Amino acid sequence: MSSLTTEQSPKQHRYLDVVGVTKSFKGTVVMDQMNFRVARGELVSLLGPSGCGKTTLLRIIAGLLEADTGDIVLGGRNVSSLPAHKRNISVVFQNYALFPHLTVAENVAFGLRARGMSKTDVQAPVADALALVRMESYADRPVSALSGGQQQRVAVARALVVSPDLLLLDEPFSALDRKLRETMQIELKALLRSRGITAIFVTHDQEEAMGVSDRIAVMSNGKIEQFAEPSVLYAQPASPFVMDFVGLSTRMSGRVVTQTDGIATVRTAIGEVRAIADYTAGTQVQVGVRPELITPDPTAEMNQIKVQLDDVMTLGSKTVLHGVTSGEDKFLCELSGIRTGYTRGETVTWGWAVADTLIHEVAA
Ligand SMILES: Nc1ncnc2c1ncn2[C@@H]1O[C@H](COP(=O)(O)OP(=O)(O)O)[C@@H](O)[C@H]1O
Ligand SMILES: [Mg+2]
Repeated sequence: MSSLTTEQSPKQHRYLDVVGVTKSFKGTVVMDQMNFRVARGELVSLLGPSGCGKTTLLRIIAGLLEADTGDIVLGGRNVSSLPAHKRNISVVFQNYALFPHLTVAENVAFGLRARGMSKTDVQAPVADALALVRMESYADRPVSALSGGQQQRVAVARALVVSPDLLLLDEPFSALDRKLRETMQIELKALLRSRGITAIFVTHDQEEAMGVSDRIAVMSNGKIEQFAEPSVLYAQPASPFVMDFVGLSTRMSGRVVTQTDGIATVRTAIGEVRAIADYTAGTQVQVGVRPELITPDPTAEMNQIKVQLDDVMTLGSKTVLHGVTSGEDKFLCELSGIRTGYTRGETVTWGWAVADTLIHEVAA
């Protein structure tokens, strides 16, 4: 693997350092010796399926849950023994957790008032925070009268008004419809960037993670499978799990039959597939390819497969061809823009470059 996939922070600075965190619930270990490091100003996502431990890790960092072992170091200070309200970490929860009987301004003021600021003194910072999320004109409304997107903005203003050292967001957009979610992602990313805020997003949506993050930690069963930039996760997934979870791909099981000159030839149910790899013959592997790397006009040196065209989906910005093989496998071939001239039912040969084959060893 290239050095880009190492778990080191791209910047020298270790800002948040989660060191050797272990957590069990009623005797079941859900997190074992977790290490996780974020640089100052970075936007990082924890991405993984439901139950993999994202919220648990977030709550331990925030001080809302106590780890069995391990430390949380923030800005060089070990905050492990500090209660949540002394860590200067803000959390935006999935359900926003606003106070329904208070106005927008009172909700945003809450953290400052809890720190002992007077009603007069909180006015300016509350107005600033509401301006950041473009909610100034709603200051005196009850939060119960707001739409989901507006409540989300208020929750962000409430989190930022206290100038946190770290912002944690647990599936912050999951209650919003798709269009609004995309708008909020863009807005929030721009806001956090402009203020240089260090933030960790929890999400189970890979597109959201790719869109908002500098780096993504892909989690499975309480472990980080890979922690890397979105482009690296996509192009060089470190495991079959990451390849499955991030982006679409067609995957096939097979066995390496020959290994020469840095190229492994893998026998699969639908023929031989070559990949740039270094395995010994006999190794059980999984190979895969991304839809946009498949071409309907392959050259001789490419991996080639015969498929029957099963469907042509015209999606506007792209056209997706579905091809079924003689085996069970279904291949997608994604072409940019609107393409015509493909007929359902015809048998065609597709291909992809040997260098574009993703390959991982799997347990035999
Ligand atoms: N308070 C709790 N008591 C018992 N088990 C819990 C508790 N909180 C979380 N878990 C378990 O820990 C694992 C991780 O949960 P969680 O961190 O909520 O996952 P995620 O946020 O990724 O969906 C799951 O198996 C979940 O059932
Ligand atoms: Mg969760």
